[in-house]
Amino acid sequence: MRHLIVILSLAALLQSCEKASLPTWDVYDLPYELNRPQGFPEMDIPADNELTVNRVALGKILFHDKRLSRDNSISCASCHLQELAFAEGLITSIGVDGAIGPRNSPSLANVGYIDSLFWDGGVPTLELQILAPIHNALEMDSHIQDVLDKLGADYEIQRLSNLAYDRDLDMYVITRAISAFERTLVSGNSRFDQYAYQGQEDALTPSELAGWELFNSTETQCASCHSGFNFTNNTFQNIGLYENYADAGRERVSLNPADNGKFRVPSLRNVGLTAPYMHDGSMATLEEVIDFFNEGGHMHANKNELVHPLNLDETQKGQLIDFLETLTDEEFIYNSEFQLD
Ligand code: HEC
Ligand code: HEC
Repeated sequence: MRHLIVILSLAALLQSCEKASLPTWDVYDLPYELNRPQGFPEMDIPADNELTVNRVALGKILFHDKRLSRDNSISCASCHLQELAFAEGLITSIGVDGAIGPRNSPSLANVGYIDSLFWDGGVPTLELQILAPIHNALEMDSHIQDVLDKLGADYEIQRLSNLAYDRDLDMYVITRAISAFERTLVSGNSRFDQYAYQGQEDALTPSELAGWELFNSTETQCASCHSGFNFTNNTFQNIGLYENYADAGRERVSLNPADNGKFRVPSLRNVGLTAPYMHDGSMATLEEVIDFFNEGGHMHANKNELVHPLNLDETQKGQLIDFLETLTDEEFIYNSEFQLD
């Protein structure tokens, strides 16, 4: 209906001024300038979901909207908290009615750069991911139709939906808008970045620098898997966390037993904030993680042999942790652009 009114008034406008070209809703939208820190590549953004100011604004509102859950009790932001770099801080997630899920909620920092989502890489795009938590009985336990019924009656959301996507709210809009917002969650201004990419040689202490060297050494091999600007090579690896895995990991997606116990190498950005660690949240602290790698993991047929006993002493273990903590990006966790106005 509102479309019709706009078209009619535009028609009237055109009659009075014949040379004006026909504007669309897009005229009121502007491209969103994505922050691209030094050292970061260009992000792949789907052609049908270019970032605009209104798309990101709508996505931010939806990300924080508890009506996405069956009983209006939790939003995406309930399990992805900005102060924890959009991780959750629980061993595994708690959904509607206190349901306990099987996996640890990962940070969403730089999630726009990841092309196989979830710990097992089972979902290829952000747009496809959105429906998973909405429908998951252990998370939001809702149905997209219920969500559309609730939000469709909200004038402000309909207004933004039309400004952003030139259509009323539907599944297309919900999945695209939240994805657009998620792509803006770029974290690349930690003290490590100031040292490595912004030429501030004194940004790191000697202990942190020694940790960075250890991290890259042939001895530890950390950087073989946690490589590049986002500290992950985006492969799936079994690190020998268990002899028998309760969660089959990548095997659940590929159905190949050679993938049993393999999980996506997690980014280490903001890792000082994202405890507890591992796909099942089984390690409470970075100390525990470093002790684990130092001991070399458990036996498993699929274990990557780069994980092996390291014989690090207490000083070296402390240096590795000091380095990992330099990946905390304060600007990111306090950025008010990610918060509701
Ligand atoms: C009940 C807690 C909970 C809620 C609510 C929730 N998530 Fe998550 N999220 C998780 C957990 C747990 C995982 C890991 C799942 C897995 O790997 O199987 C996850 C994974 C993700 C991932 C993949 C990240 C990666 O690195 O692979 C994205 C993206 C994401 N969530 C976005 C969202 C969005 C958007 C919403 C709202 C529509 C949402 N989440 C709601 C707990 C939650
Ligand atoms: C063979 C590849 C590989 C190597 C080598 C490796 N990691 Fe990892 N790392 C992984 C994978 C895969 C996980 C997740 C495993 C899981 O959840 O089952 C992980 C998890 C972690 C975590 C927990 C992150 C989180 O968000 O839960 C930290 C911290 C970490 N690694 C640091 C290191 C350090 C430090 C080293 C060197 C001592 C190292 N890693 C060596 C692949 C590797």
